[in-house]
Formats: sequence, structure tokens, C-alpha cells
Amino acid sequence: MNSTKSYINTSVGKKVIMAITGLALYGFVIMHMLGNLQIFAGPEKLNAYGQFLQSLGGLLWAARFGLLAAVGLHIFVAVKLTLENQAARPIPYYSQHTNVASYASRTMKYSGLIVFAFIVYHLLHFTFGVTDPSAHALKDSMGRHDIYGMVIAGFSNPIVSASYIFAMGLLCLHLSHGFFSLFQSLGINQPEYDAKLKLAANVFALGIFLGNSSMPVAVLLKIVA
Ligand code: HEM
Repeated sequence: MNSTKSYINTSVGKKVIMAITGLALYGFVIMHMLGNLQIFAGPEKLNAYGQFLQSLGGLLWAARFGLLAAVGLHIFVAVKLTLENQAARPIPYYSQHTNVASYASRTMKYSGLIVFAFIVYHLLHFTFGVTDPSAHALKDSMGRHDIYGMVIAGFSNPIVSASYIFAMGLLCLHLSHGFFSLFQSLGINQPEYDAKLKLAANVFALGIFLGNSSMPVAVLLKIVA
């Protein structure tokens, strides 16, 4: 127990925690997107999928707690690492340094903060129905929670859709650097593969951006209605 605690307190330990929790969150984002993309298959598919998730009962709650723990730990350790880095380097580097680091890596804390704000808003919107209670209360013809109708109602508002797309852009910026640095933190990168790894990170992040943004765009263009 004590050795685990002291490992976590090392800089390497913290980076490994960032990598493992980041990997779990990355996995969630992909699975969640694949599930949501069923909106293109129509209300029956999406609402049945929602009901299936609800039917998992205890398993769904275990996944939710796991997700919450991963988000909490990811943010807690990120804040600790940032504070430690600041304490170790009270005088900031000047511009020649910022030219070297990628835009995504320099903006990790800002993109992370905005993604967190997005998640809070998103939960209030679709999970708790606080921002749009009438859409959240919709039922389909089989008496199921009408997730399809709720998502269409939400994305029919251009401001809501634009905020989602903006948040997806920042999420992908965050994921592109996160994907690359998690290989470094876990010590499984080879410098000669860096360029390929960066390319893969950008392709994955772009795929997530396009997949998630396609939903609000399709609703606004009335491709999905
Ligand atoms: C256009 C993109 C997205 C759509 C259409 C969407 C849709 C939804 C819907 C409909 C729910 C509620 C499901 C239900 O009540 O049964 C939900 C829950 C959730 N979403 Fe999203 N989502 C999107 C993107 C994201 C992203 C990018 C994240 C994370 C970064 C995220 C995180 C969550 C979380 C944590 C929940 C709660 C899951 C639970 O506790 O069951 N979503 N989403």
C-alpha cells in the first residue's frame, strides 16, 4: 500500500496514471460515439440501444462509477502535475520553446478544462434533462425513453449544435496529443516511430471529431429528423 502510494507520488507514477485513465476515457469516447451513431439507423435502433444499456442495471452503474473515477483521477493528477511543473520552473520558457511544442500539447490544460465543462453541460442536457426537461421526458411508441427524439430536439437548436461541435474540436485536440503522449508515458514508444504515431493520433482524433460532429450537422441539415 505504502509503496503504491509512493509510486503514485513520483512523476513517472503520475504520468502512468494519466496514461491509463486517459486510455480508459478514450475507449469510452469511441464506444459512446459508435453507440450514438446508430441515430443514422433510425429511432428504433437508437432507443433499443438506450433500453439495452439501462437493462444492464448494476453493470451500467459499475461502468458509470469506473468512468467517474477515471475522470476524477485524470483531472486530479493533471492538476498536481501542472502545479509541480510550475513550482519547478517559476520562470516560464520564452517563445523559442513554444515553437517546438505542438499547439495541442501546449493547450492540454485549456482543452481539458473546456472538455470537462462540456461533459458537465452534456450530462445536464441528455442524462439529467435539466436544460431541456420536456425533450428528456419524451417516450416513443413503445413507451421507451425517446433518446432519438431528445437528441433531435437538442441539436435542432443551432447554438446547442455549434457548442457541441466546438467542444468536439477541443476534445479532438486534447485526444490527439493525449494519444501520442500516453505511449511515451507507458514507455512503449520508439523515437523512429514518432512520426507514424503522431499521424495515427491525428487520424483517430479527426475520426472522432467527424463522427461526433456528423450528428448535430445531420440534424441541422434535416438529414436526420
Ligand atoms: C454528438 C456527440 C454526442 C451525442 C449525440 C451524445 C449523446 C448522449 C446521450 C443521448 C446520452 C444519454 C443516454 C441515456 O440517457 O440513456 C449521453 C450520455 C453521456 N455522454 Fe454523450 N453524446 C455525445 C458526445 C459525448 C462525448 C464527446 C462525451 C465525453 C467526452 C460524452 C459523455 C457522456 C457521458 C459521460 C454520458 C453519461 C453516460 C451514463 O451515465 O449513462 N458524450 N450522451
